[in-house]
Amino acid sequence: MAGPDYAELIRLAFEAREAAYAPYSGFMVGAALLAVGGQVYTGCNIENAAYAPTNCAERTALFKAVSEGERVFVAIAVVGGMRGTAASDFAYIFPCGVCRQVLAEFCDPDFTVVVAKSPSDYRVFTLRALLPESFGPASLAIHSLNDLQD
Ligand code: THU
Repeated sequence: MAGPDYAELIRLAFEAREAAYAPYSGFMVGAALLAVGGQVYTGCNIENAAYAPTNCAERTALFKAVSEGERVFVAIAVVGGMRGTAASDFAYIFPCGVCRQVLAEFCDPDFTVVVAKSPSDYRVFTLRALLPESFGPASLAIHSLNDLQD
């Protein structure tokens, strides 16, 4: 069976990046999240005058998906660069630590993170590699089990 079409996911991330609201940093990010049923949810970064409430593209995509009832995900593609970046000048953009943690809430360690310069130039990582030894839902389950045994 063929794996996910990363080139198409990246193309959708670039499309989503067009909607980035980044008046403060000028750094525009797009993400495209593939759910298990084949549906793709896209997101862009949404900045805020108070700075801290800024939402990254990855979390926008994930929160859109979860709010639509999706719970199981396969892969996310992430692209980013300053406004006006030429197609040939994109660098690989990795999810920030907060986004890695938020992804880990819903995604298996084998979940795929694709960082891309273009639909044909990308790198593929597992969430496990980007967030090793993470604290997640299972950690709390273990703690509550211990509590019960105490
Ligand atoms: N940003 C993302 O959207 N995703 C990332 O993975 C890294 C950072 C956004 C947040 C902020 O709007 C801008 O990029 C600069 O940090």
